[in-house]
Amino acid sequence: MSESVHAPNVRPTAQVDPSAEVGDGTTVWDLAQIREKAVLGRECIVGRGAYVGPGVRLGDRVKLQNHALVYEPAVLGDGVFVGPAAVLTNDHFPRSVTPEGKLKRGEDWEAVAVVVEEGASLGARSVCVAPVHVGRWSLVAAGAVVTRDVPAFALVAGVPAHRIGWVGRAGARLTESETEPGTWVCPQTGDLYEERDGLLFERR
Ligand SMILES: CC(C)(COP(=O)(O)OP(=O)(O)OC[C@H]1O[C@@H](n2cnc3c(N)ncnc32)[C@H](O)[C@@H]1OP(=O)(O)O)[C@@H](O)C(=O)NCCC(=O)NCCS
Repeated sequence: MSESVHAPNVRPTAQVDPSAEVGDGTTVWDLAQIREKAVLGRECIVGRGAYVGPGVRLGDRVKLQNHALVYEPAVLGDGVFVGPAAVLTNDHFPRSVTPEGKLKRGEDWEAVAVVVEEGASLGARSVCVAPVHVGRWSLVAAGAVVTRDVPAFALVAGVPAHRIGWVGRAGARLTESETEPGTWVCPQTGDLYEERDGLLFERR
């Protein structure tokens, strides 16, 4: 990366725990909270009011839009986009209290992860219900609720989310070649992809 990348820029009302690591070139906007031992890569943008739970790991150039909520132990790869008010959950059967009515603490339940791979995007107000794996360069539509793993390059929408198409690295919907069924083309870049057994692969 270029040498001109600046030191982290943490806005005055953001709360970044001293044990968190924030990479160079990363901006943390007002009222965002970064919890203990979270790790943020380089050149990330954490929007106003966003939340990053304890130990959560973000790669480089990750964008969390305003009020995105990323609960531990989520792991986000390089270039992941998390839309405004999106939620990455961590408790499949949540309860505040035990059957006896006592407040449950961290050690009383096991957190489960949402893993989002490189380049994937989560639309505005979408919810990823952990445990779930969102594949590289996939795109989750606004308002979708992801309950099953999302394959790489899949465009998923709805509640629960289902695949409604494919997208390329540029984020545009791919179109299937009329002459070569199973070959998909990006209208923006001309890049080619191949569909095999319900999965999409980049043609090199
Ligand atoms: C999913 C998405 C990529 C589809 O875009 P598109 O390919 O232009 O799709 P269209 O608008 O042509 O809609 C195609 C169909 O999908 C439906 N659809 C579109 N967006 C949808 C969504 N978020 N959830 C459910 N269905 C959706 C449309 O109603 C339409 O259905 P129909 O064929 O029955 O009429 C887009 O709507 C979207 O949600 N983008 C994410 C936006 C976002 O959250 N940005 C974050 C930064 S603010």
